[in-house]
Amino acid sequence: MDRICLIGCESKGVIAPEIYGHFAEHIGGVFRDGVWVGEESRVPNTRGFRNFVIEKFRAIRPPVLRFPGGCFAETYDWRDGIGPRSERPKTLNFWYDHDHRVETNEVGVHEFTDFCRMVGAKPYLAANLTSMTPLDMRNFVEYCDMPENTTSLAALRAKNGSPEPFGVGYWGIGNENWVGGGNMTPEQYAREYVRYATTVDSANLNGAKYVACGANRFDVGWTERFMREFSAKGCKLWGLSFHYYCGSAGDCVNFNEEEWNQLVASAGRMQELIELHRAAMRTFDHEEKVKIVCDEWGCWHNGGTGPSKGFNLYEQQSTMRDAVITALTLNIFNDNCDVVGMANVAQLCNNLHCLFLAGGEHAIVTPTYHVFDMMKAHQGGHHIHVAGAPKDVSVSASEKEGVITLTAANLSYGEAKEIELTSFDMQLPAHACATTLSATPQACNTFENPDAVTPSAEIDLPFDGQSLRFALQPASVVSVTIKP
Ligand code: AHR
Repeated sequence: MDRICLIGCESKGVIAPEIYGHFAEHIGGVFRDGVWVGEESRVPNTRGFRNFVIEKFRAIRPPVLRFPGGCFAETYDWRDGIGPRSERPKTLNFWYDHDHRVETNEVGVHEFTDFCRMVGAKPYLAANLTSMTPLDMRNFVEYCDMPENTTSLAALRAKNGSPEPFGVGYWGIGNENWVGGGNMTPEQYAREYVRYATTVDSANLNGAKYVACGANRFDVGWTERFMREFSAKGCKLWGLSFHYYCGSAGDCVNFNEEEWNQLVASAGRMQELIELHRAAMRTFDHEEKVKIVCDEWGCWHNGGTGPSKGFNLYEQQSTMRDAVITALTLNIFNDNCDVVGMANVAQLCNNLHCLFLAGGEHAIVTPTYHVFDMMKAHQGGHHIHVAGAPKDVSVSASEKEGVITLTAANLSYGEAKEIELTSFDMQLPAHACATTLSATPQACNTFENPDAVTPSAEIDLPFDGQSLRFALQPASVVSVTIKP
């Protein structure tokens, strides 16, 4: 039996709902035949979006959705995605040399923000810094959010179907500018960031927040050099991103215990990454204003393991290993909520670390989806420190409106755990229950067997008001709710 303890006085503050954010790029099958089937499709849809995805996605309360890339964003002209769909140009998608699929531009900013409204997510738009001008970016901002009856671009938006502004919550000013986004040095990018962000700002009447392109993985040098150069001049900056794909180990589905351990350890390095980037940022940002935005994270397995068998670029299956890594990562974000302002798992559908797999009339949720569902109660909760987590157990806790949520992942491939939970300085409410996501490590959902991995029904936990116990099966995720 291992003991863990809730310590309220060591709280890191409020867990930003945006930590539970998502990402949908124009790449492979994320939209085409995934989220988007088109209005004429026989697949049940609402204004072209697959009803299954709308309903299931809305149910996990997605706070924010990033679009249209990724790398795609840096060669995208937003004007190609407005106006009558039948008249939109077919353009060269950034990923064309990988899959030879041309961009139809069917899902532009109107369709995307319509989808956001349907699922309740704030739009996070990644704007093109590499191959468009600052004025183009400013026009995009103006088009999206100037009130009706003001400028010609606002009138054009109304003519194209949306008199209401889109309500963009976040603007990403560039993506991966150390590689596909212009192959810049951090100094060069910092100057570009200032140039674009200051130009855009005069059109940003809604106070949308700006996210600058940060580092790849452990490239703390990028963070330091960007912050040094940026601080010399300065302008608005809400968040600095970094991307962390923990990679893969062995086959996506048919991995062994050693490969399980390898990938879980790699995913667990998210904690170290946050600490490193935080320290580099704080050397220049003494007031600790700039947030960390991890706007791409997840496993990157071998493609071709999803239902399209390789047709959809980077489409991968999702097993209990991905689910456990999801819980581990979200627990780490919760525990660093004083600095992590947003995170976006990559990507939503038919791609890396996805929540949905879909094609034709088929659509299923992955084990990763279930973890987002089981952990959604943390959004906006007050973080509680959990002391004493044993080796191979990842845990985090929060409190909202008198209800305490604790989520735990058993990182062990084969060993079950028994946990006793107590509290140090908090009066625990009276009733506790738990839901478990547990299956063999390699288990996954398929079109043929969509519920192979699905959470258990809620069970009551024996609880005397002082302590409670729960079991953690190997390779599992548990969500405990303690309520009045
Ligand atoms: O998610 C796929 C790609 O990975 C994104 O487009 C890019 O930003 C990253 O390299």
